[in-house]
Amino acid sequence: MIKLLPNELFENIPFLENPVYEQIINDISLKNYSIIDDFFPSETVFKLRQSLLEKHEADRFKKAAIGNRLNETIIKSIRGDQILWIDETLSNDAELLFFDRINDLVTYLNKTCFMGILQKEFHYALYPKDTFYKRHIDTFINDDRRKLSIVCYLNEEDWKPENGGELVLYLNDNGIETENVIYPFPGRIVIFESQIIEHEVKPVETERLSITGWLKTR
Ligand code: OGA
Ligand code: MN
Repeated sequence: MIKLLPNELFENIPFLENPVYEQIINDISLKNYSIIDDFFPSETVFKLRQSLLEKHEADRFKKAAIGNRLNETIIKSIRGDQILWIDETLSNDAELLFFDRINDLVTYLNKTCFMGILQKEFHYALYPKDTFYKRHIDTFINDDRRKLSIVCYLNEEDWKPENGGELVLYLNDNGIETENVIYPFPGRIVIFESQIIEHEVKPVETERLSITGWLKTR
């Protein structure tokens, strides 16, 4: 018969490093962003994609706005995606899998890098054909609590570069601007410093699905 150890005994077991989270931390400290393929397993991506499509089908998405609630103007010439905010307290099975993984990452970041992440916000996003999101930065003039942006792609397994919708990060290499073009392959996540990295979503040829969110300090 298996006997469970009392909690005190666990406190002496050394903290186990998580190689994926360590890579994220290293990447961000070196270059302000990190790309991880297969951060979410394909079954989770499948469930999240179904969840997104069901909610979209039920007409629950809204045209995305620019700026926060103090400054809400829909400007189609800047961004054309439709979004739905996710309420973690009302999570369905797919969203529970999503938040389990994200919360685990947040705990790790707070424990190992004292990031002080106290809040988070995530929304589904759907880019219909021919939409885009022009070059921008993810922080607002009147609110700089967003520290890390996270984009999680939920596209079909056979997503091809020709489908468009590349995420372009504009990077500053010793005063010289370089671009990093990232394809929105399913299971992939991109994490970057919200206050530093300018970025853009190129025009989409085939409906593009994702969850985007921010880890915030108070
Ligand atoms: C955003 C954004 C990038 C992407 O929603 O602010 O920049 O790849 N998204 O979807
Ligand atoms: Mn953005």
